[in-house]
Amino acid sequence: MRYLPTGEWMQKADSFTINEIGLPSLVLMERAALKVVEAMEREQINLEKPLIFCGSGNNGGDGFAVARLLKEKGYDATAVFVGHESSMSADCRRQKGIAEKCGVPMVTTVCRQEYTTIVDAVFGVGLNREITGDYLESIVKMNALSGQKVAVDIPSGICSATGRVLGCAFQADLTVTFQCEKLGLILHPGHMYAGKTVVADIGIQCGLFEKENDICYTYEKKDLPVLMPPRRPNSHKGTYGKVLMITGSKGMSGAAYLSAKAAYTSGAGLVQIYTSEDNRVILQQQLPEAIISTYTEFEEEKLKSLLGWADVVCIGCGLGQSRLSESILETTLKEVRVPCVADADGLNILSCHPELLITTERPLILTPHMKEMSGLLGCSVAELQEERFEKVKAFTEKYGVVCVLKDARTVVAKRKKHNFVNTAGNSSMAKAGSGDVLAGVIAGLLAQHMYPYEAAVLGVYLHACGGDEAKAAKGSYSVLAEDLIAGIASCTKKT
Ligand code: ACO
Repeated sequence: MRYLPTGEWMQKADSFTINEIGLPSLVLMERAALKVVEAMEREQINLEKPLIFCGSGNNGGDGFAVARLLKEKGYDATAVFVGHESSMSADCRRQKGIAEKCGVPMVTTVCRQEYTTIVDAVFGVGLNREITGDYLESIVKMNALSGQKVAVDIPSGICSATGRVLGCAFQADLTVTFQCEKLGLILHPGHMYAGKTVVADIGIQCGLFEKENDICYTYEKKDLPVLMPPRRPNSHKGTYGKVLMITGSKGMSGAAYLSAKAAYTSGAGLVQIYTSEDNRVILQQQLPEAIISTYTEFEEEKLKSLLGWADVVCIGCGLGQSRLSESILETTLKEVRVPCVADADGLNILSCHPELLITTERPLILTPHMKEMSGLLGCSVAELQEERFEKVKAFTEKYGVVCVLKDARTVVAKRKKHNFVNTAGNSSMAKAGSGDVLAGVIAGLLAQHMYPYEAAVLGVYLHACGGDEAKAAKGSYSVLAEDLIAGIASCTKKT
């Protein structure tokens, strides 16, 4: 597990380290600069003739220190100060003075083809508004110069909290970021401006993040074996739970199949699909391991009895938005006494009937994509993109649900919990059926007695790791939702 703080949080950790722990800021700067030089050498950046652009804040201070260390190592390094004398931080001024005394050449004009590497130390995590004027000109110029591009901490122009481009941004090949990968480096479009990201430990103390639920975190492959629910030698199918999948209207048997198979693949003991009678034969043939129950019309007593049988319910994949589907969802949310996952059409119905959200007393996990979430919130997708963390958290607080907001960087939120941000997975997963698989995986993990938020987080991560396996096997274009299930199997096999 690793934290993904915003720049604001990183600045708090920085000042805690300096003011409370007592590590002098110049020591941190020296360490930061040493790590940048070390990373550039390790990544085989051409350092024959580097040019370091320095701003007036402490990121500029890091830049002057980098220029000095490169010079000390015998590289032909030059610094260019693009900040304003009047707004220079004390440490930046000091570093500039040291660099000058150590003989680092300082230039004000830059020739196009002269340099092998451009280092961006104009703004770090202190960027807090749109870039304009001469700063904007400098960044445009840096991008236009030939040579390899390296950013110190975060490319100038990228918002460290949202990944948004604030006016313009440095396009890096390599970003050396300090202590933690900032949230803005993994969210899009920031991620695409960072190039390869290297995280350098410079001794900033991040203990305060543990208590702050606003801070995001992510998982890495090595976390999977610890996260998976245990399998016991003396177990039977009942040990791993009964899942009721209320999925698949006429012509949508695929959604029912994929979600049910995914629930089995993530470890559930028994899966029953409650679906349209039209899907019976095909589902029995495709997935003989599942129990198939069907409907042709709304049968309240039958539905209640199935809900009573289940340890977990998953509703919505391919369910349709007919009056019949609405009745099924309404009864399910009123009567369910076990954890419930609502996906796809279940969410579309909920957008039109938000009063149903307050009906359920049991843990509810919603798995909307951006469009579905904007429907639930009654805002535009653009507004949601802008303030996704705040909006999703407020929604989970209002309704007491777990929310899985699906996107290139899926977020899992619950009140009083850290936000999880998924950093695994790839674009091959952007295909029909992918969401059905995710809903099934989460239901399968819930069936194995995981807590709802933990099951949602692990489900998202396992699904994405399955996507990485599928891409490795079939490439970016040809992966089908069923391949994700095979990928998940391959991941769980390794745990
Ligand atoms: N246009 C013009 N100016 C802007 C804009 C903009 N769009 N956005 C922000 N600024 C200004 C800010 O107002 C701020 O100036 P001010 O301090 O006068 O208000 C300045 O740019 C901040 O610039 P940064 O260099 O990005 O931010 P900061 O000074 O906080 O440094 C840091 C960031 C700590 C260097 C981080 O990116 C980093 O590299 N950390 C490595 C560790 C390190 O070196 N630590 C020692 C730091 S010393 C200390 O914290 C006292």
